[in-house]
Amino acid sequence: MDAVSEKYNAVVVAKVSLTPDLFILKVKPDKAMPEFIPGQYVLLGISSNLPRRPGCAPEFKESKADRLILRAYSLASAGHEPGLLEFYVSVVSNGSLTPRLVNLNPGDRLMVGDKIRGFFTLDTVPKEHDTVVLAATGTGLAPYVSMMRRHAVKPYPFRFVLFHGAARSWELGYSEELRCHSRYLPRVTYLPSITRTKEDPWWTGETGRITQYFQSHLMRDRLEIDLDPARTSVFLCGNPEMIHEVGTMLEPLGYSAYTTSQPGSLHTEEYW
Ligand SMILES: Cc1cc2nc3c(=O)[nH]c(=O)nc-3n(C[C@H](O)[C@H](O)[C@H](O)COP(=O)(O)OP(=O)(O)OC[C@H]3O[C@@H](n4cnc5c(N)ncnc54)[C@H](O)[C@@H]3O)c2cc1C
Ligand SMILES: NC(=O)c1ccc[n+]([C@@H]2O[C@H](COP(=O)([O-])OP(=O)(O)OC[C@H]3O[C@@H](n4cnc5c(N)ncnc54)[C@H](OP(=O)(O)O)[C@@H]3O)[C@@H](O)[C@H]2O)c1
Repeated sequence: MDAVSEKYNAVVVAKVSLTPDLFILKVKPDKAMPEFIPGQYVLLGISSNLPRRPGCAPEFKESKADRLILRAYSLASAGHEPGLLEFYVSVVSNGSLTPRLVNLNPGDRLMVGDKIRGFFTLDTVPKEHDTVVLAATGTGLAPYVSMMRRHAVKPYPFRFVLFHGAARSWELGYSEELRCHSRYLPRVTYLPSITRTKEDPWWTGETGRITQYFQSHLMRDRLEIDLDPARTSVFLCGNPEMIHEVGTMLEPLGYSAYTTSQPGSLHTEEYW
């Protein structure tokens, strides 16, 4: 065992590959983590000595040998089950961690940071808000999976509308689970949308980038959502360009970013 792998404190118990580049990883820490709040994240780490998957693009920034490569990942599991952590990960072809992480299989070990981080959580939503809009591109869905799992056992007092944008329908991870949630949970609407329709001609659902829904008249007429920062909180997660574009659309409506010192109604988690 080398100096890096001595830091490993968790084991992979399952890996579900949705596509070669998109997977769900279930990880059991050696010592159960404390309970976390849905929307929070932890660091995952593995050794730079592990090989990258063949066929990936050259590393954006070459990793030195004998290093622990650490990156942040949102927890997709429900916070009340901290003994088994779940992550939803896409492979970034020129990345350092993900072309190595994708090679892990059940029984392989890794490092999970012991600090649970982040304020991208529903406990920051003011009590007088009745609606929460959750929007994600790609694996930016992970925090909302955790929120919906918690909502299923201990309901939050909000109406939820969840927009998920992916390139193709097979990249709409967790869609079956979320569809079920939207059927049996009161006041949950799930709207998945795909953008590469030519590659997926069988898809009959919503199409186009999720940005389109943030035109206030569409929200009001189609979904009966009032984009008013005094009663509707908006959460955006994933691609930083999407977050910037939607933020620019919401600003004229009075939305400002949530920070711990200035609690606005726009909550963002940029993945890169
Ligand atoms: C709070 C937080 C939570 C996160 N949660 C998740 C999660 O649940 N699932 C998940 O898959 N990722 C998540 N990320 C992103 C994750 O931390 C890594 O950045 C990502 O997995 C790429 O790591 P890498 O080492 O392979 O690539 P890096 O070596 O870090 O990056 C290589 C290049 O790709 C760019 N890049 C990084 N990520 C992406 C991306 N997703 N798409 C396109 N380009 C990218 C970088 O800017 C850089 O130019 C989260 C990030 C943050 C800050
Ligand atoms: N090949 C695969 O199976 C696969 C699967 C997952 C991830 N990946 C790779 O993993 C990385 C990250 O993947 P990802 O799933 O996070 O992202 P992604 O696959 O690149 O995109 C996810 C969704 O976000 C949309 N999007 C992009 N920019 C946007 C914007 N400014 N506003 C609104 N929507 C926007 C995309 O639409 P557009 O299609 O219009 O860009 C797509 O519908 C990428 O490098 C990707 O290539 C590959």
